[in-house]
Amino acid sequence: MMNVLVTGCCGYIGSHTCVELLENNYNVIGLDNFSNSKRDVLGKIENIVNKKIKFYEGDMLDKDILNKIFLENKIDLVVDFAAYKSVGDSVAKPIDYYVNNVSSVLTLLQVMKEYNVKNLIFSSSATVYGNPSVLPITEECEVGGTTNPYGTSKLYVEGILKDLYASDNSWNIIIFRYFNPIGAHKSGLIGEEPNGIPANLMPYICKVATGELECLRVFGDDYNTKDGTGVRDYIHIMDLARAHINGIEKLKNSNGGLFIYNLGTGKGYSVMDIIHTFEKVNGLTIKYKVVERRSGDIDSCYADASKALKDLKWSTQYDLADMCRDAYDYVNKIK
Ligand code: NAD
Ligand code: UFG
Repeated sequence: MMNVLVTGCCGYIGSHTCVELLENNYNVIGLDNFSNSKRDVLGKIENIVNKKIKFYEGDMLDKDILNKIFLENKIDLVVDFAAYKSVGDSVAKPIDYYVNNVSSVLTLLQVMKEYNVKNLIFSSSATVYGNPSVLPITEECEVGGTTNPYGTSKLYVEGILKDLYASDNSWNIIIFRYFNPIGAHKSGLIGEEPNGIPANLMPYICKVATGELECLRVFGDDYNTKDGTGVRDYIHIMDLARAHINGIEKLKNSNGGLFIYNLGTGKGYSVMDIIHTFEKVNGLTIKYKVVERRSGDIDSCYADASKALKDLKWSTQYDLADMCRDAYDYVNKIK
C-alpha cells in the first residue's frame, strides 16, 4: 500500500483529500501545525472513513520533524497543502507569507531529496495567471502579473519546481492550479471554516444565511461580465479532492515529469448566479448590497479543464446547486 504524506492535512482542501485518499486505500501520514485549522478535524476525517491517519503535529519549516517523518515512514509521495492563503493578510505580512509558502517548500524538497522521494503534488492556484488575456484559461496561458504576495508565492514555488525538474528529470511532479473550491463533504463533518470575517464569497454568504453576518457586500457590478459582477470557476471540494487520486495514478505510471493541470469545472458563474442558486437550493433570501470594487479583483476567471480530462481522466461530477447546498449544510451543522 502506498504511503502518502499530506502536509496541511487538517485544512480545508487537505481534510477532504485525506478522505478520498483513505477511501482509495492509501495510507495517510499527516502533518499540520494547526495555524489555520483545528485538531478535531483529524477525528472527523477518521470517523468518515473509519480508518486512521498517522499524524505528526509540527511545522513544515522544521527540518527535524520532516526528517523524523521520513525516517519513521517509507514515504512514497507527498501532497503539499501547507501554506497560508489569505490574499489580504499577504499584503500586510509579505515576509510571513514568503517564509511559510516558499521556504517551507524548499525545506520539504531538501528532505525529499535526501530520502530519494521524488513524487510530489503541489497546490498552486489560478491566481498565477494574473489577469488572463484569454478565456477559458489553458495551462499554456502565460503566468505572472500576480497582484499580491500570496499569488507571487505560488508563482515562485512553481518556478522552483520547474528548475528542480530541469536539474533532474527523475523528479515526478504535478502542479495543480485550483480555481475556486467551495462546498463540503456530504457528511457535514468537515468543511471550510475561516477564522474571523470571511474574505471569500461562499463562506461570507453562508454566514449571512445563518444570520451571523448582516449583509453580503457585492464588490462591484460594473465588470465586463453578463450582469456586471465578477465571474469565477467554482468547483466542488470533493471533485477537487478526487483529482488528487487521479494525479497519484498519473505519477505512478510516470518515471519522471513536471505536469501542470487546471482544476476547475470550465464554467464561469457570476456573484449574482451564486446568490440566486444559493437562495433557490436552500430556500432563503440573502441580503446584499453592491459596493465598490475590491482592489486586485478581475472580471472573469475560468478554466479550460480539458487537459486534466484527457491526461488524468478526471472531470467534475457536482454542479453549483450541490456546492451551495453542501456549503450551507456544513455551516448549519457547526453553528
Ligand atoms: P487551509 O488554510 O484551510 O489549509 C492549510 C493547512 O496547512 C492548515 O491546516 C494549516 O494549519 C496548515 N499549515 C499552514 N502552514 C503550515 C506549516 N508551515 N506547517 C504545517 N502546517 C501548515 O487552506 P486550503 O484552502 O486547504 O488550501 C490548501 C492549499 O491549496 C494551500 O497551499 C493554498 O494556497 C492552496 N489553494 C487554495 C485555494 C482555496 O481557494 N482554498 C485556491 C488555490 C490554491
Ligand atoms: N466577492 C464579493 N463579496 C465578498 C467576497 C467576494 O462580491 O464578500 C466577489 C469577488 O469580487 C469575486 C468573487 O466574489 O468576484 C469571488 O471572490 P473570492 O474572494 O471568493 O475568490 P477570488 O476569485 O477572489 O480568489 C480565490 C482565492 C484566491 C485564489 C483565487 C484563484 O481567495 O486565493 O480564488 O484560485 F488565488
